[in-house]
Amino acid sequence: MEPMQSLTLDEIDLSDGEFWGRRPEEREGAFLTLRDEDPVRFFEEPELMTYPRGPGYYAITRHADVVEASRQPGLFCSGQGTSIGDMPTEFLEFLGSMINMDDPKHARMRRIVSRGFTPRQLDQMKGDVEATAAGIVDDVIERGEGDFVTDIAATLPLRIIVDLMGIPRSQERFIFDRTNVILGLGDAEYVPDQTEAGITAALLTAAQDLSLLITELAEDRVRDPGDDVTTALVTTEVDGEKLTPAEMASFFILLVVAGNETTRNAIAHGLLALTQHPEQRARWAADVDGLAPTAVEEIVRWATPVIHFRRTCTVDGARLGEHTFSEGDKVVLWYASANRDAAVFEDPFRFDVGRTPNDHVGFGGPGPHFCLGAHLARREITVMFKELFERIPDIHAVGEPARLQSSFINGIKHLPAQWTPGPPRR
Ligand code: HEM
Repeated sequence: MEPMQSLTLDEIDLSDGEFWGRRPEEREGAFLTLRDEDPVRFFEEPELMTYPRGPGYYAITRHADVVEASRQPGLFCSGQGTSIGDMPTEFLEFLGSMINMDDPKHARMRRIVSRGFTPRQLDQMKGDVEATAAGIVDDVIERGEGDFVTDIAATLPLRIIVDLMGIPRSQERFIFDRTNVILGLGDAEYVPDQTEAGITAALLTAAQDLSLLITELAEDRVRDPGDDVTTALVTTEVDGEKLTPAEMASFFILLVVAGNETTRNAIAHGLLALTQHPEQRARWAADVDGLAPTAVEEIVRWATPVIHFRRTCTVDGARLGEHTFSEGDKVVLWYASANRDAAVFEDPFRFDVGRTPNDHVGFGGPGPHFCLGAHLARREITVMFKELFERIPDIHAVGEPARLQSSFINGIKHLPAQWTPGPPRR
């Protein structure tokens, strides 16, 4: 893909919904212009996002600055919110849990929940990820065509989280619909009433539904422990620490939203990229296991499923690049832009399944908030593509992807795909 610099610097408005409806190459072109001409540019906040409208934000578009800000949580904090618009303080933790916390609260939460996500624990799940991916392919393999997102890409991360938490699979659809609403607030397919009141009501209802589901499950596990992450989080005390029911509910909302809406988009963008770059697909197909580590990182860089997160400057005088900030300034880290920065990536607009090095910031910059699920996400993407290469090697996207209207999640809602039908294994 070649970026199209169809907008001048003054015409670029990252807060304009229309910008996010433009073609990907035009958006790439705009970020290229920002990186070159004004890498710390001020924007007014979008209308409708919060009431009253917030003070605006600085868009950080170079890789080096995104990394610098992520590394210095004392200067650029998360506790005042990580989305561009402001939310009432009580919503920040209800909806965002640890992602919207600073130390010492954040460190405590991360210590407790990390117990459920150690590489050793996830290694024990390896067979489960493989069996789940195989089951998903079994369900569609005879059909020869389908919606790659809803039939395949979205099902794996969702099923893994549901199993991990010990939630019955019958609740999968319920959870899927709620996470679609929470991250698709600006998209009329998920939230038909696009007024401020309609959006707020949809958000709170979806979050409360999820909160109720997990609270009931957690109460059940306190009485009757299982071998799932929910049990580990609510019953095990390490140095006197365990999660309260409210913390548990918020963490669960973060987990299902952060774990589903990201990994599924990485997988969907992965298939799209492999369809559009047949030579890269042939290369990976010829050495599926050998190239998997670099190919998976490249898919995450290419997709950048999370387009941005926000920080807030805590002192007067903090610097990024040439710019000096004041206390209270909102600083938005545009991962999507950092991941195309030619200062770090050779030929950044080339999809290269063997790319090394690949210091992308798709899982966030280095620092305390680096993605808790990165290990799991990498495993899910690896296993899914291995299963596809082995069982339906000619699967490819047909037609245009239906893209999510969002400045936050680089989402593909639907992606028609075809493959040569084969037999299920079970
Ligand atoms: C390709 C898939 C994924 C991408 C691109 C992604 C991206 C991110 C990013 C950019 C952050 C940084 C937030 C910040 O700095 O403010 C983050 C944090 C987080 N992610 Fe992921 N994520 C993915 C998969 C997952 C999965 C599978 C899970 C859970 C099972 C997960 C759970 C979390 C959690 C809990 C945090 C918050 C960590 C903290 O605040 O300490 N993510 N993720």
